[in-house]
Amino acid sequence: MSCEAARIIDRQVLAKEDSVLGLSTGDTPTGMYKELVQIYNCGLIDFFKVITFNLDEYYGLPPDHPQSYHRYMREKLFNYVNVQEGNIHIPDGVAKDIEEECGRYEEEIYRYGGIDLQILGIGPNGHIAFNEPGSDWGMITGLVKLSEETRRRAATHFRDPAEVPTQGITMGIKTIMKARKILLLASGKDKAKITFEALKGPITKQVPASTLQLHPRVTIVLDKEAGSLF
Ligand code: GLP
Repeated sequence: MSCEAARIIDRQVLAKEDSVLGLSTGDTPTGMYKELVQIYNCGLIDFFKVITFNLDEYYGLPPDHPQSYHRYMREKLFNYVNVQEGNIHIPDGVAKDIEEECGRYEEEIYRYGGIDLQILGIGPNGHIAFNEPGSDWGMITGLVKLSEETRRRAATHFRDPAEVPTQGITMGIKTIMKARKILLLASGKDKAKITFEALKGPITKQVPASTLQLHPRVTIVLDKEAGSLF
């Protein structure tokens, strides 16, 4: 899954060197970032003109917090490739004016011409980015409440479960659906049921990822376990 995902990103950047990539975090894409670093080290991908926008960030975590998505991206990808600092965009979880920060983030995406390829994972409850079940499809970048399930899962990465933020800044479903292409990744048996439900079940607000059925250009890459019900 990781190799195939990295190749798709590589092909995107080869075809358009100033691609705007929408990036995701979590356990799912870590192998993909590793592959991308390897491809970069072989000289087959150049990030110099690439623009990146991350999907989301925990509200209240400063960029240097060990569990922040800022830190994740540096440790998994940005520290090892030639992406330019000024081309990296991740919502600021400690912005003074969050409403202004969300509006600015959304605008910034379109100032760069919109997202060419958006990478997505899927939460076991069907969430994409931090758009939890029941989220409005018209949502653009905003501050949202994290579900207890999402917080419980995130707790495995925090020293103390009480430290897991209760809110996140996230691209909305509308922001995600505006991307020209989407690459959905899922791995492991705990994603089998929800991936099947999202892609073959009814399109419903209760499963935010089911909106992807309405997107014209989605590529789905699953490992054997996540794809076991198809
Ligand atoms: C988190 C992130 C999502 C991610 C999802 C799945 O809540 N905000 O962007 O896709 O969970 O995470 P994992 O890949 O660890 O299963």
